[in-house]
Amino acid sequence: MGKFILGVIVTISVTILGFLGAAMLGQIPTAANVPPPQWEVHFANSAMDASMEHHAPHINNPVPPTDQNFEDAMKIYTMNCALCHGGLDRKPANLGTSFYPPAPNLVAHPPDDPEWHTFFTIRTGVRYTGMPAWDKNLSEQDMWKLAGFLSHMQKLPPAVQEFWKTSFGVEPPTGEEEEKPSPKQK
Ligand code: HEC
Repeated sequence: MGKFILGVIVTISVTILGFLGAAMLGQIPTAANVPPPQWEVHFANSAMDASMEHHAPHINNPVPPTDQNFEDAMKIYTMNCALCHGGLDRKPANLGTSFYPPAPNLVAHPPDDPEWHTFFTIRTGVRYTGMPAWDKNLSEQDMWKLAGFLSHMQKLPPAVQEFWKTSFGVEPPTGEEEEKPSPKQK
């Protein structure tokens, strides 16, 4: 039994040292302009979801889903998020696919997570990705407005849809033109 445990410890140590050695010898790719392999996407997404589940308070959105709040969120989104996540005028963000992992186009594929999940992602950002933490730049109110807007994007009230059309010159998304609701392209 003692020898078995020693064997396990040695194997783990050798693996870790091998990994560190490979990293120091420049064997680990660090380029951002290649798509991540499928296993990495799967592993990273599962780890992120589990972390959110564990760390984020599961609370209801304190900001009500009023027309005014949705319209505020559209302005906040355009000023802060469209650069990486695609504009409300449906123009994709060139910068979005230049990240590793890429920033999902949130207009074409709005998140289907609960609002507290989206709020917490916005507030804390996502480590080792291009997604910044917004807690020092946006108020709690504004982050909740964004979380509410992203989760209602495909079912906005008629007046807000009208505001979208006149402000951005395109129809707001209804989810019907996309075959799949939210393929996480991360
Ligand atoms: C500098 C680029 C950049 C900006 C600006 C940015 N993001 Fe992100 N965002 C990213 C990247 C990259 C990811 C992918 C992270 C990952 O793969 O886990 C991401 C992920 C997300 C996700 C998770 C998507 C999902 O399907 O799980 C949400 C929600 C999000 N961003 C919202 C926002 C909001 C709202 C703003 C504006 C306040 C914003 N982001 C601004 C780069 C950005």
